Amino acid sequence: MANPKVTVVGAGFVGATTAQRLVEKELADVVLIDVVEGMPQGKALDMMESAPVEGFHTRITGTNDYADTKNSDVVVITAGLARKPGMSRDDLLLKNAEIVGGIVEQCAAHSPRAIIITVTNPLDAMTYLAWKKSGFANSRVLGMAGVLDSARYAYFLSEELLCKPGDVEALVFGGHGDEMVPVPQLTKVKGRPVTELLEPEVIEKINQRARVGGAEIVALLKTGSAYYAPSSSVVQMVKAIVQNTAEILPCCVYMTGQYGIKDVYCGVPARLGREGVLEIPEYKLTDDQKKALAASAEQVRENCAKLQKQ
Ligand code: NAI
Ligand code: 2OP
Repeated sequence: MANPKVTVVGAGFVGATTAQRLVEKELADVVLIDVVEGMPQGKALDMMESAPVEGFHTRITGTNDYADTKNSDVVVITAGLARKPGMSRDDLLLKNAEIVGGIVEQCAAHSPRAIIITVTNPLDAMTYLAWKKSGFANSRVLGMAGVLDSARYAYFLSEELLCKPGDVEALVFGGHGDEMVPVPQLTKVKGRPVTELLEPEVIEKINQRARVGGAEIVALLKTGSAYYAPSSSVVQMVKAIVQNTAEILPCCVYMTGQYGIKDVYCGVPARLGREGVLEIPEYKLTDDQKKALAASAEQVRENCAKLQKQ
């Protein structure tokens, strides 16, 4: 049987690292596409030249032509501008909407059966835009942020608890912004909620570090934003889709009344499989967390309204 086909749009830091992880893990054949001529071709060739050493059998090709992306199973959109120091994700809204809107139209035309995963910021608004521009069912368009935010939360907790990062199963809800909602009672280390392992003030400090985790990396890098953890996070979602695992992962999905939130994209745990979002199971949140989630969703709604005015 043919390998799944995954197109990664944008061959910058996040896109190229995602493509590299996908082929090295043999999850799919990858098409890497960018507007810059020669650059995706060069990166793809460089990665293929690593195949004899790394021992992978999947293929990556680079291109500037959407015809090469045809019949992709999954399209990952990382194209756009990244945050610079002092810049919020929302500053990127209008510029990236222009870029992502055009890309989605091309991808949807060439791969009408694909699942679209957006990565470009501001993430939640770009996911909404991708859904609108694609004309796809909302279950086929989702965004990557929750896996990343939860991974950061898990890592910070593992440092505090002196345990293996992989032993922490963390859940962060909400939009991909400073108003995201870490959920400590659902975050567990070998089955024990962190609310039983750490004092509330220590947890709150870590919650806050997770909320601004992206900005912490931007401040250190100075010329761009994170890409190692973001690419790992995208790959976890792609794996759940192409292997039809029905795994529950926090991601940006279209809400249809869950947690009292409707008709807006927001970050919550969702079951993923070959058809995209299979289910949005509801978890027990505190009243404060429900309010924070609703406020975060409202912020996304406001951003989407700014897009509609354009
Ligand atoms: P980058 O600047 O390294 O790469 C962006 C790439 O997009 C460049 O290669 C550029 O040539 C390409 N591009 C621009 N316009 C294009 C078009 N019309 N068609 C095809 N390619 C085009 O940026 P990086 O670090 O890869 O970040 C990409 C995006 O991902 C940014 O918006 C960033 O904020 C976002 N991001 C989101 C995360 C999340 O959790 N959702 C995490 C990390 C980054
Ligand atoms: C991050 O959280 C920039 O949104 C990106 O790293």
